[in-house]
Amino acid sequence: MELSFFLATFLLISLSTASHLSFDPCSSSKSNSDLSVIPIYGKCSPFNSPKPSSSWANTILDMASNDPKRLSYLSSLVAQKPTSVPIAPGQVINIGNYVVRAKIGTPGQLMFMVVDTSNDAAWIPCAGCTGCSSTLFAPNTSSTYGSLDCSVPECTHVSGLSCPAIGSGSCLFNRSYGGDSSFLATLSRDTLSLGNDAIPNYAFGCVNAISGKSIPPQGLLGLGRGSMSLLSQSGSLYSGVFSYCLPSFKSYYFSGSLKLGPLGQPKNIKTTPLLKNPHRPSLYYVNLTGVSVGRVSVPIAPELLAFDPNTGSGTIIDSGTVITRFVQPIYNAIRDEFKKQVTAPFSSLGAFDTCFAPTNEQVAPAITFHFQGLDLKLPTENTLIHSSSGSLACLAMAPAPNNVNSVLNVIANLQQQNLRILFDTVNSHLGIARELCN
Ligand SMILES: *[C@@H]1O[C@H](CO)[C@@H](O)[C@H](O)[C@H]1NC(C)=O
Ligand SMILES: *[C@@H]1O[C@H](CO)[C@@H](O)[C@H](O)[C@H]1NC(C)=O
Ligand SMILES: *[C@@H]1O[C@H](CO)[C@@H](O)[C@H](O)[C@H]1NC(C)=O
Repeated sequence: MELSFFLATFLLISLSTASHLSFDPCSSSKSNSDLSVIPIYGKCSPFNSPKPSSSWANTILDMASNDPKRLSYLSSLVAQKPTSVPIAPGQVINIGNYVVRAKIGTPGQLMFMVVDTSNDAAWIPCAGCTGCSSTLFAPNTSSTYGSLDCSVPECTHVSGLSCPAIGSGSCLFNRSYGGDSSFLATLSRDTLSLGNDAIPNYAFGCVNAISGKSIPPQGLLGLGRGSMSLLSQSGSLYSGVFSYCLPSFKSYYFSGSLKLGPLGQPKNIKTTPLLKNPHRPSLYYVNLTGVSVGRVSVPIAPELLAFDPNTGSGTIIDSGTVITRFVQPIYNAIRDEFKKQVTAPFSSLGAFDTCFAPTNEQVAPAITFHFQGLDLKLPTENTLIHSSSGSLACLAMAPAPNNVNSVLNVIANLQQQNLRILFDTVNSHLGIARELCN
């Protein structure tokens, strides 16, 4: 079935936004530490949509089809024994859907890297890479490039090969990725430039070989909370603070932004505490205390929402999962209340099991996520997706996949679009404010 978002208001916004843009809407931004974030298949992205004739909603369904693997991945991480290895770049299942411009080396080489809040390390395909398809970083033309030795602590952080009994060597590591993919990388360092900021000696994986089809074509930038992440490696530069606004998947010319550092962040923003899980230091856990459908507070057993570092249960905010996933009993309760209030005949479509005729849409209730100290009433476009034929609107959320014994709820990027999400790791809180960044 041919599908697309039906977001006429966004089209209007996009047109008016486009008229305010300067000559080249894809040109690099702007002020210091303010980076464009664009959907991986957006107009300004170098990547071609996998199916150019396909609608955006189909593309989203395609992307969301990787969510079960990512959920499984996130769940496996939280179930792992505590370890001193906070980074797992190659184990990410979903490639994520938003990229940011970054430059590596001196002079800088432009790469469009996927931004991923649930991972720490960065990695980039390098010249000579076997199996890589896209733009490659050429270390031999960078005057600041160096590989890192197997003896450095960072090599332990990436589970690199240990040093031979005699002598030393560069730090090689191999990671699985996407279930069907893996890569081999040399732990390296070079200058990472974001906006006008240059971070010297940034440790990243220089990818030498890939197998499989799920590797992000120009690498990945980890924005997680652990020791190899951008916040950790940039020292005091960003004071432990960043925010992003993700434009709609459908956005065309314009882009959202990744803002690094405390300057220019919204002042009056509602916040909720970030919770720390020492067993999984990369993840941004929040305290989801309830969900409302319309005015009805959905009955959810508190233990299903409770944060437990040992089991990994609780709720995270993630930029790499496409649609929000709740553990099955929570999803069922939300869906049942939603159906009660819409009272239409329902059908299924892909991952979505609550689709109905859009003529019922005006009675579709708003969904509110209640976080500790912060209520997020979802805009309609973050709640429903529509068929272009006009025949269906679907509740754009889903249960954790059947084969995943998940205890984790994941607030995903479809539900974060056109919001500014502020991550303040120093004050340990997350802020959310409405912002149209289409
Ligand atoms: C750098 O490496 C590339 C590919 O490995 C090679 O084609 C190129 O000639 C090298 N350039 C220099 C300046 O060594
Ligand atoms: C990574 O290691 C696995 C298992 O040893 C191997 O099958 C795979 O080919 C390796 N990947 C790369 C890209 O070398
Ligand atoms: C989550 O918020 C509730 C309600 O404010 C509170 O009782 C609970 O202790 C919080 N949980 C954590 C882990 O902070």
